[in-house]
Amino acid sequence: MNTINELIEKYNRPGPRYTSYPPVPYWQGTPDEVTWINHLNTSYDPEKGIDLYVHVPFCESLCYYCGCSRIITKDHSVEKRYLAMVIKEWALYEERLGFTPNINSLHFGGGTPTFLSAAHLDLLIKTLTKNKLPQFIGSIEIDPRTCQTDHLDVLAKNGITRVSLGIQDFDPIVQEAIHRHQSPEMVKLLVEKIRERGINSINFDLIYGLPKQSLNSISGTIETVIKLNPELIAFYSYAHLPEKIKNQRLINDSDLPSPKLKRELYELGKKLLQENGYHDVGMDHFAKPGSYLYQAKKEDNLHRNFMGYVDKKSPILLGLGPTSISDSSLSFIQNIKDVKSYEDKVNANQLPIQKGHVHSKNDLMVQDIILELMCRNETTLNDTSLPYWDDVFKELKDFEADGILELEHNKLKLSELGKVFVRNVAMSFDFHLREQRTAVKFSQTI
Ligand SMILES: C[S@@+](CC[C@H](N)C(=O)[O-])C[C@H]1O[C@@H](n2cnc3c(N)ncnc32)[C@H](O)[C@@H]1O
Ligand code: SF4
Repeated sequence: MNTINELIEKYNRPGPRYTSYPPVPYWQGTPDEVTWINHLNTSYDPEKGIDLYVHVPFCESLCYYCGCSRIITKDHSVEKRYLAMVIKEWALYEERLGFTPNINSLHFGGGTPTFLSAAHLDLLIKTLTKNKLPQFIGSIEIDPRTCQTDHLDVLAKNGITRVSLGIQDFDPIVQEAIHRHQSPEMVKLLVEKIRERGINSINFDLIYGLPKQSLNSISGTIETVIKLNPELIAFYSYAHLPEKIKNQRLINDSDLPSPKLKRELYELGKKLLQENGYHDVGMDHFAKPGSYLYQAKKEDNLHRNFMGYVDKKSPILLGLGPTSISDSSLSFIQNIKDVKSYEDKVNANQLPIQKGHVHSKNDLMVQDIILELMCRNETTLNDTSLPYWDDVFKELKDFEADGILELEHNKLKLSELGKVFVRNVAMSFDFHLREQRTAVKFSQTI
């Protein structure tokens, strides 16, 4: 049997993160507007409503590592036009569908949603949640550097109960190397204010593999995190793709930890989190007992969408704003990325669809398997008519020989060690990747 380091050497290679299947680079067959609206109508269930995602593409300052879709500006006059566009896009959907959908959840992502003033955020939430379902859940990504008390008042007043803070790392030397300064004291104060307002689900985003990180700096960061006691932690692997993401070229390659050290940073972080009451609930995610992700994992009710892990999911995810992705259960679409082109399209009374993908039967079969692997670490293989089944099966047997998974009859179960390689196992089922192996750049799987 190989050691974990040998296995990492063997399997660490570029691969999709599988926030969707098929991954965006392999989409083909964009649905036209009529087909897209038909798909939404077919999948809509008034009791389950829809999940809304709103992409706010602005940030005041550039973090060098950032792989998100955003525009850096300090000019807040962009807010008004942005708000008008998103509200118009929503009105186009209401008009095309012929009804105002019930809202199961609303999530603000970015960029930086707290770039918007509290008054604008208030207006946006109120406009989009006229038909809130009783089980409504509101969530938002917060940059601690731009979040003011009046933002928190608006969130609390509008039933936004889940917040995610971009922390990344507390070490001053790492913060300097990534061009993102935020002190533990400032975050502590913000956490207190959030809790005072009854918002009691706080997530921290952390990243390992950043420039200048060391075992010492990671343990210092985790120690501070533990004191602040967020309910949830996303501990992401730094995805470094400087050929594709220009701003990452501002990071010195020589400051990056080696693949071996990067792995050790993760292992140390994970150990410290687990020793302090956090449970590993899924790829990169840790949760305290009592948190919604812990509960969902316990009740075998964890789901995954473009934003990550969730406990509840409706058949429709509708994304508003530039770059946003939508899922009708029958197809995906992504909005136009360029803000000006997005605006022109919306102003011309057209849905701002840039690209999409209509699912085939095989897509849906593989989508199910990959979701099960990511959420439950196991799956049932009922259908050997899966594309490239002979090749898939051979690869699964190799994974089994390496102790990554167990195959028993039609059950596939990842071992404890195998959870690290979940993206590699998912890649075996990914027939789009098999057919176009060389064309697209992805981050390393481990
Ligand atoms: C939209 S940002 C969060 C909200 C806000 N913009 C902020 O940074 O505070 C989403 C998260 O993506 C993660 N992220 C961004 N670029 C990344 C990269 N290259 N590799 C891994 N994670 C990354 C960060 O943890 C970040 O908090
Ligand atoms: S990490 Fe967040 S704040 Fe930093 S540039 Fe990216 S989206 Fe903006």
